[in-house]
Amino acid sequence: MSDSAHDPLIDPAPMEDDVDIDASLRPRQLSEFVGQPTLKSQLELILEGARRRGSAVDHLLFSGPPGLGKTSLAHIVAVEMNAALRATSGPALERPGDLAAILTNLEQGDVLFLDEIHRLPRAVEEILYPAMEDFVLDIVVGKGPAAKAFRLPLPAFTLVGATTRTGLLTGPLRDRFGFATRMEFYSAEDLRQIVTRSAGVLGVPIDDGGALEIALRSRGTPRIANRLLKRVRDFAEVRSDGRVTGAVAGSALELFEVDQAGLDKLDRMVLTRLCQDFGGGPVGLGTLAVAVGEQPDTVEDVVEPFLIQRGLLARTPRGRVATAKAYDHLDLPFDPTRDEPPTLFGS
Ligand SMILES: Nc1ncnc2c1ncn2[C@@H]1O[C@H](COP(=O)(O)OP(=O)(O)OP(=O)(O)O)[C@@H](O)[C@H]1O
Ligand SMILES: [Mg+2]
Repeated sequence: MSDSAHDPLIDPAPMEDDVDIDASLRPRQLSEFVGQPTLKSQLELILEGARRRGSAVDHLLFSGPPGLGKTSLAHIVAVEMNAALRATSGPALERPGDLAAILTNLEQGDVLFLDEIHRLPRAVEEILYPAMEDFVLDIVVGKGPAAKAFRLPLPAFTLVGATTRTGLLTGPLRDRFGFATRMEFYSAEDLRQIVTRSAGVLGVPIDDGGALEIALRSRGTPRIANRLLKRVRDFAEVRSDGRVTGAVAGSALELFEVDQAGLDKLDRMVLTRLCQDFGGGPVGLGTLAVAVGEQPDTVEDVVEPFLIQRGLLARTPRGRVATAKAYDHLDLPFDPTRDEPPTLFGS
């Protein structure tokens, strides 16, 4: 085993060479955005309503695991509304003045994209409340009894927030969004369409079988699908005639050690530890994270949502539990009578 479970090929977080490809393959309009049908029709309605009234779109909050299209949607909102997009992020705004400078430079209808909004410092967040609610900026000049408060009007703008952790948002901030939604993992059929579209943009000849093979191993995540497509393209060009078929994609992904279910090394390690060392659970998140040598945040935000969606892991009040399906996936015997994790050192 390598010293790290981290697999750069199927890590859903963006990597250096994704930046270009993310940008070139990013859907520009709502019509190019594949999947998430409920979210799409809700958004369509919200945008059309604002367009008819000639007003700025209500503030929008997109949450969900990395690589599912939150940033893409923010850009799409701006394009669809014919508005300018200003982008910043929670950690980039260190002081209230940083946000004030951005807000005072906005124009009517602009879209302000605030990525990683759960990492906004508290003092900056407080500036955001009146800005979102009443389009005003409250500033205090001076200190003590001589301090003066000013209220500056702001143009009506749309805040689009993105986060992998809705749970970390404060109530007052969450309440100020007119629409908040959680993005779901994509179905194999949606991912097949995304791969086909991306292959078209990149000029890679691909058939349905090839696109489906990549889709099935992409961990429900468009960013991973696009990345795997690039590796499969290399394989097709070097080892074959350049065309991506099901067989070519299958061999390529085998070479790059991507699991048939799209699980990466870290996913498999979490499940294996859970089943083998903790008798299938329940075990606390912190303990599980230590066992695989990862941050609890990574296990909670990146690994678990996909395992839960696939019915391999469950979160219970007493801790994380492996399902019968997990044992099946790992080829381990499942004991349905198990209740407590075995006591390793007696009691
Ligand atoms: N619905 C979609 N249809 C087509 N392509 C998509 C879709 N969603 C995402 N993608 C592709 O996946 C890439 C990653 O998406 P995006 O950067 O929007 O994800 P994100 O949710 O903002 O991720 P992060 O949490 O890491 O910021 C995009 O560049 C685009 O190529
Ligand atoms: Mg993003």
